[in-house]
Amino acid sequence: MTQLTPPINITTIENNFTQSSTSHDSFAPRLLAWFADNGRHDLPWQQHQTDTPNPYIVWLSEVMLQQTQVTTVLPYFARFMASFPAVQDLAAAEWDTVAEHWAGLGYYARARNLHKGAKQLAEVIDEIGEYPTTLKGWEAISGVGPSTAGAIMAMGLHRYGVICDGNVKRVLTRWAAIDGDITKSATNKELWALAERLTPREQSGLFAQAMMDMGATLCTRSKPACLLCPLQDDCLAHAQGRETDYPVKAKKPPKPSKFSNALLIKNADDEILWLQRPDNGIWGGLWSLPLEFIEKISGKVAVKDTDKNTNKEPIVATDNQLLEVASNEKVYETEFTTAEQIIHEWLDKNKLVTKSVSNTLLDDAPIKHSLTHFHWYLTPQSVTLNDKQATEISEALQSAQININWLNADDAQATLGLPRAMVKILE
Ligand code: ADE
Ligand code: SF4
Repeated sequence: MTQLTPPINITTIENNFTQSSTSHDSFAPRLLAWFADNGRHDLPWQQHQTDTPNPYIVWLSEVMLQQTQVTTVLPYFARFMASFPAVQDLAAAEWDTVAEHWAGLGYYARARNLHKGAKQLAEVIDEIGEYPTTLKGWEAISGVGPSTAGAIMAMGLHRYGVICDGNVKRVLTRWAAIDGDITKSATNKELWALAERLTPREQSGLFAQAMMDMGATLCTRSKPACLLCPLQDDCLAHAQGRETDYPVKAKKPPKPSKFSNALLIKNADDEILWLQRPDNGIWGGLWSLPLEFIEKISGKVAVKDTDKNTNKEPIVATDNQLLEVASNEKVYETEFTTAEQIIHEWLDKNKLVTKSVSNTLLDDAPIKHSLTHFHWYLTPQSVTLNDKQATEISEALQSAQININWLNADDAQATLGLPRAMVKILE
């Protein structure tokens, strides 16, 4: 963690704010004037100018925009709106359809929460005849935290609402030179208090949209455009020339690494066996290749991060291409689904060995895929079955109530909601 020295030229006063009340009072007018001329007014989910705002649109877009950039979200948002024009449509949709629409956006827990949230909202509407109208009511919906709830109140209902998401925190820690660790609750309280102090009672939706735009387009993570910024005159980080020292965030411990084989089990028609994963756990409810988690890996392995190896010959990894990995034994058995155990045992019993590869051959090195809580190294392994074997494994899985599909790579990509990592493997 970076330790910051106290800001220069500022007398810290009793309350947490180190800027004058004039600074605070003029914050919203300055921001709104900037937004009117320089903000984005053409995003398809913007409802601040609409007389009859649609909370569904704001809720849907805000959930999609959590941890994801506007440009990535745009085509997904359009497809969701085309397929599910109202919350009742989304609530009534099959999970598979929702997953397929979401595939590629990442953080699948959000998609599950979205689907669950749609059902909760449809129920509320059935009961009270309208969307929730309070902050508490929105926070009760799956996947809606305090900032998303504030955004929906302000932009989706034109009521009073305060937002304090990652973008806002970056702007405010810089503007007020708040050097507390933003992963700490004390710092968060301070930031929320400041956001509340700065949000105007009228037009909080416009203010919310303007803050998001500021954070996304001007006060960016690595290259803030301070010279264009309406807050530059009293921005303390700018005065210190230390814009990028904020926000202060404790370094996370390194993510653990997990290794697995991704089994390409093919039938005589070159179709691949796909499994629908259980609702909980990694990629809950999505379609995936059967995985075999490899236990007790530690020491060094070769990892293919980029595709530099154009040479046809297998390359024996040199020492600096080897990655030191920590063993992480406990996680594996919990990740093994019933379907994967059935497959594992069936392959074993039938003496069908997957094409195994040496860890030191870069050619066959795993594909790296990073998820929220760990890095995942996936090694594709293939095995081809004859007709009788394909029928046997299908029946074994189906009798255990597991949803399966035999599809070639192209059809699988086109019709199943596949996680990004699976697409990487197919490519
Ligand atoms: N990020 C989160 N919400 C947003 C919004 N409404 N517009 C632009 N970026 C956002
Ligand atoms: Fe961000 Fe620079 Fe504006 Fe300060 S002056 S709020 S650091 S863009």
